[in-house]
Amino acid sequence: MKQLRRNVVAVTIITTILGSTAFAYSDAERIQDMQAMESAVQQMQKGFLYNNLKDIAAGAKVLKEHTAKIEPPIDKNADSFKRNYAYDVTKREARKIINLADSAVKKYKEHRPKQAINDFTKILKQCMTCHARIRKW
Ligand code: HEC
Repeated sequence: MKQLRRNVVAVTIITTILGSTAFAYSDAERIQDMQAMESAVQQMQKGFLYNNLKDIAAGAKVLKEHTAKIEPPIDKNADSFKRNYAYDVTKREARKIINLADSAVKKYKEHRPKQAINDFTKILKQCMTCHARIRKW
């Protein structure tokens, strides 16, 4: 009985771990996050063009929230090396986007709009880097 209970506990732990890693983030969630990120960068761009810090800051906030959540699609046939690579790329690009969003807002507040725009264009480059790499897998 004790042994059985231990097995049940072990199975529960394993499925919890699997559930919270491999299966937690669905394709539908990714699309939702992507669409939210897309409208967030639009809002930032609008802020730059209309000289409106509120839009830049609000867009950056939404962008960061969704960027922090994204995970790469899981290709079941890929070996663990490829999968880890996909995770590494995703986390690295996400971190860059989050830092650049903070930096863009900060520079705009410091009345350095050109440097802020520079960060903004770098954000878009990170989006495209990930799209180009992820879609190859
Ligand atoms: C993890 C790497 C990664 C990063 C970083 C990334 N994307 Fe994506 N994006 C994807 C993948 C993968 C898809 C395809 C999703 C699908 O079709 O299931 C996608 C799809 C999209 C789509 C299409 C959504 C749809 O409705 O079909 C948009 C829009 C988008 N991304 C915007 C962005 C923007 C804006 C950024 C940067 C702020 C960004 N993405 C950064 C991986 C990424």
